[in-house]
Amino acid sequence: MQEELIKSDDRVKKHGEVFTPKRIVDLMLDQPEITAKINDLHATFLEPSAGEGAFLTELLLRKMQVALKLSNNAKEYGVNCLIALSSLYGIELLEDNVEALVMNMNDTFRDEYRNQVSQHFNSEPDQRILKSAKVIIRANMAQGDALKRVTSDGEPIIFSEWQDLGSSKVQRTEYTFDDIIEGRGSTGSVKGATEQLDLFALNDVSDNNESVSYQKCSWANIYLEKITS
Ligand SMILES: C[S@@+](CC[C@H](N)C(=O)[O-])C[C@H]1O[C@@H](n2cnc3c(N)ncnc32)[C@H](O)[C@@H]1O
Repeated sequence: MQEELIKSDDRVKKHGEVFTPKRIVDLMLDQPEITAKINDLHATFLEPSAGEGAFLTELLLRKMQVALKLSNNAKEYGVNCLIALSSLYGIELLEDNVEALVMNMNDTFRDEYRNQVSQHFNSEPDQRILKSAKVIIRANMAQGDALKRVTSDGEPIIFSEWQDLGSSKVQRTEYTFDDIIEGRGSTGSVKGATEQLDLFALNDVSDNNESVSYQKCSWANIYLEKITS
């Protein structure tokens, strides 16, 4: 099938919008240093000009294949898939692209999870896993300007850290993208589509933003989005 890499000349001029063909995505993600990060379910990736998710959807598929190898049953697989998903972050300027990005991430997760649960574990998909995946994707795919670090309303872009506490538990904590990048994050650089960024190896920055405080919960119950009172 012919890949549509350009939507209009105007968008190329205004936003540099040219999508990456699948074979180039594969070539880049096949680099040994990237593969090593993909094999680490917790290693984070940020795509600051995510488009419709050419890189992020392929990263998700590859990480879910790693999740499968690490799982002994359907329950473990569901949790490992959510851990894999929670490590992927994207920022995209244009509304229609973000909509496509979110849809593509949701579809990729749902199809791969359903297929493997059925084929590999002869089981039914857990609806809580699918609902929690939607919450993670909504939180991790931001519409905004990655250079100015703000949303279309001029508000700071906020990302969630999903800290795996073991025993199938997770702690969600919100940080502004600005805090993550401004020396208050460990790496301080966002260079490219597939560069691993240890996004949340931060000093404690939670004091200086007004983020929501979430309860610890099981990975499967992320969708409940329970906050601490
Ligand atoms: C060259 S395309 C690459 C898209 C995608 N990474 C891919 O490989 O298919 C660049 C994308 O960055 C988006 N973009 C342009 N300026 C941006 C900005 N300041 N912040 C976030 N995204 C931006 C464009 O809308 C476009 O979708």
